[in-house]
Amino acid sequence: MRSQVFPGEPSFDLLEDIQRLKREKNAIILAHYYQTPDIQALADFVGDSLALAQAADRSTADVILFAGVHFMAETAKILNPKRTVLLPDLEAGCSLADSAPPEKFKAFIDAHPDHVVVSYINCSAEVKAMSDIICTSSNAVRVVNSIPADRKIIFAPDKHLGAYVQRVTGRELLLWDGVCEVHVEISIDKLKLLLGKHPDAKLIAHPECPPEILAEADHVGSTSSLLEFVQRDPARTFIVATEAGILHKMREAAPHKELIPAPAHAINTCACSECPYMKMNTVEKVYSALLHGSPEIVLDEHVRERAEIALRRMMQLG
Ligand code: 13P
Ligand code: SF4
Repeated sequence: MRSQVFPGEPSFDLLEDIQRLKREKNAIILAHYYQTPDIQALADFVGDSLALAQAADRSTADVILFAGVHFMAETAKILNPKRTVLLPDLEAGCSLADSAPPEKFKAFIDAHPDHVVVSYINCSAEVKAMSDIICTSSNAVRVVNSIPADRKIIFAPDKHLGAYVQRVTGRELLLWDGVCEVHVEISIDKLKLLLGKHPDAKLIAHPECPPEILAEADHVGSTSSLLEFVQRDPARTFIVATEAGILHKMREAAPHKELIPAPAHAINTCACSECPYMKMNTVEKVYSALLHGSPEIVLDEHVRERAEIALRRMMQLG
């Protein structure tokens, strides 16, 4: 086995072995934009939650290795019950998904039986199974607009995305009280100082950010939408208010632009925002998962079937 040139970097053999295992097992790797650059480089497809769900749905591979977090791999399994779906680290969760435990969510929707239940894809399969329709940050406005105007709506679990959709659509939404621990860590005070230092910069923000951040933003959208905006907008400098992993693809797509991660509250960590769950995946864990066919996503079939109905309603809207 060839040795590593720099400590911490995967060896060439490991990368070659992953490609070999992919061929042998007829596997594909799907990766979210928040994954580390080495994992993004290994992936057959990199995208936002909606594009990844669509890629999983199109896939004919026997094995889907999902380099993302648990709810994303579960989504791939909901759409592909016959295929093996692997997640390199089963502990890679999501604070939003965790904010809506199924029993509490059931009590909430039971208390509002006249409401249509719209759930953000960042939730468990059990919560999806209790929902009428799923949305992502790409299509949340479209999904809410698709619901007849006379129907009341529950929106869960992200209250900030929900409040944003409420502002854009003018619909009143009953919001579940969940947040993304990464996006609420972005500091509005530090951000204002940074905007003062870069008066020509455009602020782009993910809708999981709190309203005071979104109020300052020139563009609000999903990770894919933020990436597209950086490519097409004539500005030279962008302050990016979302998880810092997206900066890798942005730098590849727009190498001549200056990209500054929005600052986080914490002073002792890195200046940007990183999702600790997304960062649990490593190239070594990708290799091990492909080699052993584990950890695998396993779902109760009754839950999966009901979750698929809500998910397919969203997929039909695009
Ligand atoms: P996107 O669907 O915009 O990629 O968002 C996923 C996510 O988890 C944001 O925190
Ligand atoms: Fe969940 Fe936030 Fe991490 Fe996205 S960034 S996976 S919403 S904890």
